[in-house]
Amino acid sequence: MKDLNPKVKGKGIQALKKAGIQVQTNILEKECIEINQAYLKWIQTRIPYIVQKIGMTANGLIWSKEQKEHWINGKKTQRFVHQLRNTLDGILVGVKTVIQDNPRLTCRIKNGRNPVRIILDPFLEIPVTAKVLNQKGKIIIVTGNKLDSINKIKKRKLEKRLKEKIQFLELPIQSGKFNLKQVFKKLGKQNIGSILVEGGQTLNTSLLKAKIADQIMIVVSPKVFQTGTYFIQPKIAGKFNLKITEMQKSGNDILITCKN
Ligand SMILES: NC(=O)c1ccc[n+]([C@@H]2O[C@H](COP(=O)([O-])OP(=O)(O)OC[C@H]3O[C@@H](n4cnc5c(N)ncnc54)[C@H](OP(=O)(O)O)[C@@H]3O)[C@@H](O)[C@H]2O)c1
Repeated sequence: MKDLNPKVKGKGIQALKKAGIQVQTNILEKECIEINQAYLKWIQTRIPYIVQKIGMTANGLIWSKEQKEHWINGKKTQRFVHQLRNTLDGILVGVKTVIQDNPRLTCRIKNGRNPVRIILDPFLEIPVTAKVLNQKGKIIIVTGNKLDSINKIKKRKLEKRLKEKIQFLELPIQSGKFNLKQVFKKLGKQNIGSILVEGGQTLNTSLLKAKIADQIMIVVSPKVFQTGTYFIQPKIAGKFNLKITEMQKSGNDILITCKN
């Protein structure tokens, strides 16, 4: 298939032909589109391809006090998630996840590269000691455009400490929330073509409501917790009719890929 990038469109093919190489196009076109879907979306719309990943117990919980270890899913799924982090340009979480779990959001496979870490933080609540701030690679903090004076000082201190490693994207907030479409549009303009969202209940609910994700990956573990947080707000559960596109085993978990 032809590269749809307007800067490239057909030029590679012409160069090959000019060099005397026979070129045939549109072979296995469906498969080519399938493996390039993230790039194709971004190059045509400048909006990143969004993968929403949800790791849950068999009874739909993403967090529980009973959880002894950090991960709900097994080792094979963890490796798969790190592969995703290595492949996609950015990883996005809400600040509540940073506060509660203190994740690094890095790619921990050999020779892997860290995605740009993006935190939705309307009121700049991120702890200055958060591990996510001290890893290799760029961090983008999406924050409100009307920070109070204390948080303006906190922002300046973070900029001074982390220099070009940190970038603040200031956007309007309404009832404590960003308009996610606006967030992704801004991120796409910064050449972030694909994003893995590892949301908590609040972010998952917003994404599902707005039908923004291009791919939803639900990884179901056989574990069952008695109490905890559901992957979406229970009051809106039942309003979704996701379409399963693929289902496979991932060690002891089941990986269900869906579309809105
Ligand atoms: N198992 C998993 O896959 C998984 C993955 C990640 C996190 N978690 C768990 O989820 C918990 C945290 O979840 P959470 O629901 O408290 O928070 P969250 O989804 O991590 O973060 C939401 C944060 O983003 C802000 N935000 C701004 N604009 C938003 C928008 N349009 N939609 C949604 N949020 C927006 C929220 O603002 P407001 O404060 O105004 O709402 C809030 O501060 C943690 O316990 C963590 O362990 C589990």
